[in-house]
Amino acid sequence: MDGVTDLPRAGAAEEGARPAAVVTGTLYGVGMGPGNPDYLTVRAVRVLERAHHLVHFCKAGRRGNARTIADAVVQDPAREWALAYPYTTELPPDDATYVSALARFYDEAAARMADELGAGRDVAILSEGDPFFYGSFMHLWRRLKDRFPVEVVPGVTGMSGCWTRAGTPITWGDDVLTVLPATLPAAVLARRLAETDAAVIMKLGRHLPKVRAALAEAGLLGRAVYVERGTMAGERIALLADKPDDQAPYFSMVLVPGEGRRP
Ligand SMILES: C[S@@+](CC[C@H](N)C(=O)[O-])C[C@H]1O[C@@H](n2cnc3c(N)ncnc32)[C@H](O)[C@@H]1O
Repeated sequence: MDGVTDLPRAGAAEEGARPAAVVTGTLYGVGMGPGNPDYLTVRAVRVLERAHHLVHFCKAGRRGNARTIADAVVQDPAREWALAYPYTTELPPDDATYVSALARFYDEAAARMADELGAGRDVAILSEGDPFFYGSFMHLWRRLKDRFPVEVVPGVTGMSGCWTRAGTPITWGDDVLTVLPATLPAAVLARRLAETDAAVIMKLGRHLPKVRAALAEAGLLGRAVYVERGTMAGERIALLADKPDDQAPYFSMVLVPGEGRRP
């Protein structure tokens, strides 16, 4: 396989002027978009078709969502490389056991990737939405970026897919948009919501009751829109006030559209 070499690599501008160097592979962070494979970029497809390894994060025993999106383009188990998180929601993210297990997980994955990259093979890490927006890819990028060429392929974010499908423009005129992880404490959510014109609240899961209360406290519950699995199979969209329960899967978010200047 030739690998993906048709865009200049980061840091490769002066290659011609230097003595012959060891050829390493490139680390790609590939934005897979919000779920529907129609929202993959041309560049993402090109990298998926040609990289030596296709890496995706997943829960142990499950297929990652980013890998499912890629099924529309490539089905090649020989190139597939699953990275199963040691924990997902079993422990709070500030628990010392969780932090050290995750650090070890990323260190070990980075070491295995370094072996492949050092041998000249391209490694593409599949990232839901955009790789640089709350992406696990960033933890590997941080460990490898100073040793190997890197290309990040931007993707359509989940929130962009969600407000598109909900038919709700998110910001008008001078509206300020605040993106909030639902994992924040209730008081912080309420304060940030009270200060903003528009909001996106991500990582809902079991935090939906807290989010609902914070929106009510900020006087925003009436405009809040709940989107589950935006652009994907099983998509559900409703006014949050009309949603009768507080069940929310991992792929869900709340949108609070701005109401700024509309001449
Ligand atoms: C770790 S963040 C990853 C964000 C991703 N890198 C992006 O650019 O959208 C995961 C959160 O994104 C949100 N999300 C991403 N895609 C979504 C979709 N298609 N529908 C609903 N929520 C989505 C959910 O709130 C989920 O908990």
